[in-house]
Amino acid sequence: MTTTTNLFQTGPGGEPLAAGTPRRRFVHVQTFGCQMNVNDTDRILQVLTPFGYAATDDPAQADLILLNTCSVRDKAEQKMMSQLGRLAPLKEYNDDLVLGVAGCVAQQEGERLLQKVPYLDLVFGPDHVGDLPSLLDRVRGSKERVSETTFFKRKDYAFIEAEPPAEVRVSEFVTIMKGCDKVCSFCIVPFTRGREVSKDADMVVREVERLVAAGTREVTLLGQNVNSYGKDLRGDRVPTFAQLLRRVDAIPGLERLRFTTSHPMDAIDDLIACFSDLRTLCEYFHLPVQSGSDRVLRAMRRSYTREGYLEKVAKLRARCPGIALSTDIIVGFPGETDEELEETLSLLAEVRYDSIFAFKYSERPGTKAAEMEDSVPEEVKRERLARVLALQDEVTRARMKAYEGETLEVLVEGPSRMASKGVADRWQMMGRTRTNIIVNFPVPMGEFWAKRWIGQLATVTVEEAKSNSLFGRLA
Ligand code: SAH
Ligand code: F3S
Repeated sequence: MTTTTNLFQTGPGGEPLAAGTPRRRFVHVQTFGCQMNVNDTDRILQVLTPFGYAATDDPAQADLILLNTCSVRDKAEQKMMSQLGRLAPLKEYNDDLVLGVAGCVAQQEGERLLQKVPYLDLVFGPDHVGDLPSLLDRVRGSKERVSETTFFKRKDYAFIEAEPPAEVRVSEFVTIMKGCDKVCSFCIVPFTRGREVSKDADMVVREVERLVAAGTREVTLLGQNVNSYGKDLRGDRVPTFAQLLRRVDAIPGLERLRFTTSHPMDAIDDLIACFSDLRTLCEYFHLPVQSGSDRVLRAMRRSYTREGYLEKVAKLRARCPGIALSTDIIVGFPGETDEELEETLSLLAEVRYDSIFAFKYSERPGTKAAEMEDSVPEEVKRERLARVLALQDEVTRARMKAYEGETLEVLVEGPSRMASKGVADRWQMMGRTRTNIIVNFPVPMGEFWAKRWIGQLATVTVEEAKSNSLFGRLA
């Protein structure tokens, strides 16, 4: 890393820097897309900190601006492009400013992105977060424009062991694997994140232990396809995903455990059993179905049928009656007919998910589905999406309503958003149920006591259900 003179010659508290101290720099990262990217942004900050970088919310103050991008749908990509355009003028005021693109668009576009965007300095894929200091050296030192998007070979890929941040959240994410080996025909993730590589189980356990020791109460294990965990590792001591869950569950002081995301194919019996066996594993399962039509599922290469999926749901509910379920839906996949859309609607009505994420199909370059004609017109996609959302809206409303009068265990995360708007003299706190629903409730006696609730389990009686969250009072 090059060290140039600090314009202000001051340290974090405004004190003068000793001679030879690296100049304090500021990095501004904007994160798009999924939890993986949020986690990668944490890693970016983690690797830059020893090089004198501090995070800033203000792009105008930054010496380094990174957009951590998503390419799963076209809209996400467009958003990034317009954001880049908005940031470009900052380069006119600051010669030293490095503008970079990270994440999935970077991986996908690489060198091309440098050609398309003349004021861009740096493009690097998710495998290269650990190299960021040396990439920056090249940009700043030799004034190169750098693109680095090669994938590491599976055996050469090394996870950066995450130290807990200075201040941990009540609920934290821990990456347990990267990449995806599935072949869903619509999906770009296998191209942007590469092959599955699992993090060593001991490392996962150590990371969770450290977070818990620092105050975290809830951990979400993160991967594109977590139930394939361990398949790429060799040796008899390599746990399956269910076995890993059991190890993490045994960590003293951990209150709640979650994971995301799973492919229904691999949601097999030993994993389903975990939901009734493990103390910390929360009764919430995100199980993306994508479509209710067998023809569409086949074209999507999802490798399960509607029937097979519904059987898994039935098994889960038999094993764990109160489990909350959510899913992902794509409407307007190539060739999707009105009848096939009806099958998706009927599946939604049958399963009655607690919540869903629904998307219009977006053709992604290089995928198998991109070889098929993107045949459903935009307005039909829009109309189908609206129908899916309207149906789910009704179901969600009814499901939320059913919580009224219930008394629930809430893990308190902090002041609710309403508190910042200044709600009377009582403090509103927010937390989540084990089924992942947000609950707001007031705590008596002001700020001092409110803070003490953070990280605690509160017992809350629900008085009112809104569309996305519940309101209640301490029981
Ligand atoms: N296993 C991953 C899935 C990543 S993509 C995970 O960790 O969530 C998330 C969701 O985006 C998918 O389940 C799918 O519903 C949606 N999606 C993916 N590719 C898409 C595309 N080309 N068009 C529309 N939606 C898509
Ligand atoms: Fe994408 Fe299917 Fe993997 S949706 S992330 S290819 S499981």
